[in-house]
Amino acid sequence: MQTVHDIAALRDSLDAWRAAGLGIALVPTMGNLHAGHLALVAAARARVDRVVATVFVNPLQFGPGEDLDSYPRTLGADARHLAAAGCHLLFAPSEAVMYPRGRDGHTAVDVPGLSAVLCGASRPGHFRGVTTVVAKLFGLVQPDLAVFGQKDYQQLMLIRRMAADLSMDVEILGVPTVREPDGLAMSSRNGYLSPAERARAPALFRTLRDLAAAVAAGAPPARAEHDATQALSALGFGPDYVRVRRRTDLASPAPEDGALVVLAAAYLGRARLIDNLEFDRQTGTAD
Ligand code: PAJ
Repeated sequence: MQTVHDIAALRDSLDAWRAAGLGIALVPTMGNLHAGHLALVAAARARVDRVVATVFVNPLQFGPGEDLDSYPRTLGADARHLAAAGCHLLFAPSEAVMYPRGRDGHTAVDVPGLSAVLCGASRPGHFRGVTTVVAKLFGLVQPDLAVFGQKDYQQLMLIRRMAADLSMDVEILGVPTVREPDGLAMSSRNGYLSPAERARAPALFRTLRDLAAAVAAGAPPARAEHDATQALSALGFGPDYVRVRRRTDLASPAPEDGALVVLAAAYLGRARLIDNLEFDRQTGTAD
């Protein structure tokens, strides 16, 4: 696997592959890779000839006071993991390569509505940063396929919406969340947890399962959300939101909506954890 840091070198590799008629997949990441990221690479490899991963801690998607400076940067280990996973090319640009006009001078991509709810309500500007960098990476790589994790459920929906609205000629693939054996969704931010917090962290996913089961059994979503929030607080989490939404547009469900998802964000110590679970109100099945 080759690692490139600038756009000219990236384009050289891509041009050769395209000339040879090879299908290209993009797996964007912020690095500090774990098995969840590598599952995206595996999914990409199963579908196309060449996989390009990117590692870029995108400053545009961090708010003031968030963890931009402390976000773990482990490029050497990331490159080794990617090579072992069969990735063909790693693009790891500097901020100057990505944003030569600076953070404020760059053209932005904003998905209205969807970017303002849930995580977008708590982290203003976050999703604008995400869609801007992903649009730029799509422009640089022009992939046939781009792969994202369902762990970041709202992010995946926004990227699908952006690609559709801007007629981007790329297929978006969502990959199921990879979890630790105790149910905790893998995340680079789990490294912020103390041992005691790490032991408590799986309660977030358990709470989502309980909430989904309660709604599937007929509980009103608002009551179930309230109970789940209380349960998380009692366990030492600082819940940001716990919401039952319909899968199509993340709006509050009407009584006839069956295809639902429960989404939550909660602080545990200094880590902000997010998780979600799709379920069906009529049949009670969860993913
Ligand atoms: P990052 O948090 O590094 O995640 C990169 C990709 O890995 C995202 O698509 C995310 O959903 C996926 N991922 C993370 N944890 C996962 C898990 N446990 N199971 C499955 N997939 C998982 O998300 C971002 O970076 C950034 O916002 C990015 C899209 C790269 C734009 O900067």
